[in-house]
Amino acid sequence: MAVKEISQAVIGRLPRYFRFLGELKDAGVERISSQELSQIMNVTASQIRQDFNNFGGFGQQGYGYNVEYLYTEIGKILGMDKTHNLIIIGAGNLGQALANYMNFERRGFIFTGMFDNNPELYGKKIRGMHVRPMEEMADFVRRNNVDIAVLTIPKTSAVKVAAQLTEVGIRGIWNFAHVDLEMPADVKVENVHLSDSLMRLSYMIGRSDENE
Ligand code: NAI
Repeated sequence: MAVKEISQAVIGRLPRYFRFLGELKDAGVERISSQELSQIMNVTASQIRQDFNNFGGFGQQGYGYNVEYLYTEIGKILGMDKTHNLIIIGAGNLGQALANYMNFERRGFIFTGMFDNNPELYGKKIRGMHVRPMEEMADFVRRNNVDIAVLTIPKTSAVKVAAQLTEVGIRGIWNFAHVDLEMPADVKVENVHLSDSLMRLSYMIGRSDENE
């Protein structure tokens, strides 16, 4: 399927479609209209049709969408038909919490190794994986086909470590450090700031207080 340049806003909505469709598929639903999907997902049917039209539509007039097909196609667009080996850099609170969350593996993200620069953590076992010294990182990445690095280290060292990751051929960085990383075009970065989400919640609470 030829895919034209898609806006970030549409791409940002795809994981949610994928998640809902996965749940429908697991519940045994075979087909669904854009109207029904819109009710379940609380978005307009025209938004759904517009989003899907970026990829050729997926639907059939008068039939609705085939859930399994739509789930598979959106999964392919998101690269969910492939697996990714990932390492976590920073075996502190956040790094360990992510390592212990098994569900990423269901989506094809395989936790392959964990690194830190604190000697006290070397050898510590986290979900069956030993924490390794940073000195072993480059060799490990090359040997294990690692393409994603999760950065759960302080912002003071994130830029330097990101540069090291680029050198060893990492393709994507899931960045939790509070710093904007400027990477070469072939290294993709997804920044995650949980506090942004909390601030949005705070804003919504504030707005509802004003309206009472
Ligand atoms: P932590 O202090 O428990 O863990 C940080 C780990 O990184 C430590 O084990 C430390 O030894 C290691 N480290 C430091 N410099 C390193 C380097 N150059 N190479 C390898 N390892 C190194 O901290 P925590 O709570 O796990 O948070 C980690 C980072 O994530 C912090 O910078 C924090 O601000 C950030 N954070 C971001 C969130 C977000 O939503 N983006 C949410 C929570 C934390």
